[in-house]
Amino acid sequence: MSLVELKNVVKRYGTNTVLNGVSLTVEKGEIIAIIGRSGSGKSTMLRCVNGLEPIQGGTVAFDGIVVNDPATDLRKLRQHVGIVFQSFNLFPHLLVEKNITLAPKVVKGVPPAEARALAEAVLRKVGLAEKIDAYPDQLSGGQQQRVAIARSLAMQPQLMLFDEITSALDPELVGEVLKVLEEVAREGMTMMLVTHEIGFARKVANRVVFMHEGKIWEQGPAAETLGKPRTPELETFLSAVLH
Ligand SMILES: Nc1ncnc2c1ncn2[C@@H]1O[C@H](COP(=O)(O)OP(=O)(O)O)[C@@H](O)[C@H]1O
Ligand SMILES: [Mg+2]
Repeated sequence: MSLVELKNVVKRYGTNTVLNGVSLTVEKGEIIAIIGRSGSGKSTMLRCVNGLEPIQGGTVAFDGIVVNDPATDLRKLRQHVGIVFQSFNLFPHLLVEKNITLAPKVVKGVPPAEARALAEAVLRKVGLAEKIDAYPDQLSGGQQQRVAIARSLAMQPQLMLFDEITSALDPELVGEVLKVLEEVAREGMTMMLVTHEIGFARKVANRVVFMHEGKIWEQGPAAETLGKPRTPELETFLSAVLH
């Protein structure tokens, strides 16, 4: 069974059709890079995967559970699907440790001592063990984004969704965040990531999905799809991002 299965998904905002029959399967352990112009529906597709968006047609399934079934417990589902956005949205008034341990404690009932150890472990993974007792505003943007990744990892999700997580960073901070993503990928995490970092997508992703006008316009193995686009739309997009 595929971990994620989108079948003919239609999403509209009013009369604006944002996803126009999107079908995509993601296997366990796959790393999917999602690329495309602004407004092509990339974020919306990610948000459909963990049930943040109601859909008007088709089905979305995660690990065999139909996400768009009204009977599905979305809170439970989201325990298994981590999502990290462009804006770090850490709680500014909470220490890094608390930011990380809040959900494991509240949602999973992890006891305090264990939660501290969990925070230490995930912070080590993102190279920020020494920041456990810092406040978010004492960290750089890149460090905050790494804490956001650590926070998501602390829930031990089966799938991680990343939506342009380096787009708001100063250029010199992008590398450290991509390095952490690469490490998470190497450990076998299934990932769907929206990115404009074409070089990174080529290096890390198994598959590239190009979205255009609410459809998956083209997809395939990363090197092939990025190296030899089959559609003029992807070719135009790539030459624009690679200038
Ligand atoms: N909450 C919303 N309400 C109305 N329209 C939205 C909303 N979110 C996104 N859209 C529209 O959906 C389209 C796709 O948006 P989005 O999925 O964010 O694209 P991308 O991530 O590829 O830039 C855009 O036309 C956008 O204006
Ligand atoms: Mg977006």
